[in-house]
Amino acid sequence: MNTYAIGLGNNDILTRKRASQDFVAFWEEQANNLHWFEKWSKPLEWNPPFARWFVNGKINASYNALDVTAQKNSSKTAILWEGENGERRSFTYQELLNYVCKVANVLKSLGVQSGDRVTVYLPMIPELIVSLLACARIGAIHTVIFSGFSSQSIRDRVIDSKSKVIITADGGFRRGEVVKLKGVVDEAISDLDFVEHVLVYQHARNPITMGKKDLRWSDLVTTAQDVCEPEKLDSAHPLYILYTSGTTGKPKGVLHGTGGYLVHLYSTFKWIFDIKESDVYFCTADIGWVTGHSYVVYAPLMHGATQVMYEGAIIFPTPARIWDLVERYKISILYTTPTALRMFMKYGDLLPNSKDLSSLRLLGTVGEPINPEVWEWYFRVIGKERCPIVDTWWQTETGGTLVSPVPGLETIPLKPGSATRGLPGINVAVVDEQGNELPPDTKGYLVVRDPWPGMLLSLWEDDEKYKSVYWSKYKTMYYPGDYAIQDKDGYFWMLGRADDVLKVAGHRLGTSEIESGFVSYKSVAEAAVCGIPHEVKGESIIVFLVLREGITSSKELERELIEHIRKVVGPIATPDHLYFVSKLPKTRSGKIMRRLLKSVANNEKIGDISTLEDEAAVDEVRTAFNELSQTIQQNKTK
Ligand code: WTA
Repeated sequence: MNTYAIGLGNNDILTRKRASQDFVAFWEEQANNLHWFEKWSKPLEWNPPFARWFVNGKINASYNALDVTAQKNSSKTAILWEGENGERRSFTYQELLNYVCKVANVLKSLGVQSGDRVTVYLPMIPELIVSLLACARIGAIHTVIFSGFSSQSIRDRVIDSKSKVIITADGGFRRGEVVKLKGVVDEAISDLDFVEHVLVYQHARNPITMGKKDLRWSDLVTTAQDVCEPEKLDSAHPLYILYTSGTTGKPKGVLHGTGGYLVHLYSTFKWIFDIKESDVYFCTADIGWVTGHSYVVYAPLMHGATQVMYEGAIIFPTPARIWDLVERYKISILYTTPTALRMFMKYGDLLPNSKDLSSLRLLGTVGEPINPEVWEWYFRVIGKERCPIVDTWWQTETGGTLVSPVPGLETIPLKPGSATRGLPGINVAVVDEQGNELPPDTKGYLVVRDPWPGMLLSLWEDDEKYKSVYWSKYKTMYYPGDYAIQDKDGYFWMLGRADDVLKVAGHRLGTSEIESGFVSYKSVAEAAVCGIPHEVKGESIIVFLVLREGITSSKELERELIEHIRKVVGPIATPDHLYFVSKLPKTRSGKIMRRLLKSVANNEKIGDISTLEDEAAVDEVRTAFNELSQTIQQNKTK
């Protein structure tokens, strides 16, 4: 295997040493890099499994993200925004601060108070960053919904968080089309009385109907005061709720605090991206997902970085769009996903080779395991063998990265496909079912053994679920739900989810969430969803459906079902293949054996089926899959 020792000349051995001696004191040291209105009285209060960092410290996220740089260097560019249609806007730190203050004042005038929830459903436009920071400025808890989710998903999340205000837009752009957002919100909240106002930003010149709760962003924001004192919030004050998929039906509201979360982001951004004053950073993640929250909104802004923000499809109008952006804005740090890289790779080397990518100095990846050959391509064709690649492993729940190379601190050999080692102050390991640490090169479960600052506070209004999801498999260790191997050099190889969570094009989706979506359709009796490998998206969705008595399958019904799932969950939950069967493989206690479906789907040997209720169901699924593989093959050769 190839290894690459591409360094940036940094070799700070002290940081790791201090971190391993006393992780609490180490994180306390890091906290001094932020601006606090009042210092904490205690660095960590650990009542397992609840961690409270920097107890009694007073802080504000928007102050750290904006004022700190605006005071030092007000004309520093914060955002270089480009729309899919070529529109461009840019904001200095001072301009962004003024804009955020205006929106914060508007929210206050609408009655939003510290602790209130505000749902944000916006395209990737500067107003999305502005809305989040405006909430943070006044202590409101933002809850962003990715614009690929549809009305039912919005409704569930708005009900769960009891949001008082919703911020949305008339629409956004994707592949030259307008994605209508306001209409989706109208449908989601029409009968939700607790939603008091919907603030609508006009972006896509898409005609909308204004209802009695609706307010136009421009009417209120233009005339608002551009100064707003930041609230001095407790370190544990909730900054946001971000809904994410798990193994149970409904998405979970991951709740993040302020002080610990910001310290984690500030430190990891510095170590991983080795951020410098002159850098131009570009993260392709949508703010609808955690990567956007942490490494588009909070981390780069806290460092006073200049970043490119892009709305729309990164391959539109041509697959060279991304490389045009790198060339035009002289991007020095590029952070993207394996799915995007696999897609770029498919378009060949000619496109990137025809652009000037010499500004790049560091490359990153996140969200799914990266295939070694894709890593090598990124390294060779994009980074011209000069840029280190940081493969960053983390989750919505962890708040920030836990495992990654840290070129800002040290130069170690990189191995294509490995996220390398745990970050300083982070105690990760690979263990067996019982929680015993495994010898090198053995597949097991990844765990985190000590609390870390970016760790979720809990699940929104559901401490019990928080305990059962993350702290019941192992009582004293955090269980992320991933398989991993640690090799002889101590490097981690992340092997994907050990549970029923899918990663489709980097988007996190729960099988049960999609199954409930299908079962809510009148003709469907039962549904089973699983993921099968996909050469670009990593995984694609396959669904098996048992229809109700008297209903027969047809192409028409298939179309209706696809339309239904797009409506109730969202276009991102569209299955690649849908298969009708007369029964599903179940255990004697009635649980669908997804493990089995997955094995059949992947053409693997089926393991122990002694608990299976009806073996005929396995045969049926297997036959279904054989037919399916033939169809796929036929489609490929067409
Ligand atoms: C997966 C995304 C391999 C993992 C930041 C995790 C990864 C899930 C990597 C969380 C990586 C994330 N290598 N797998 N570098 N990064 N994952 O909450 O399975 O959307 O549990 O957060 O993505 O997904 P989430």
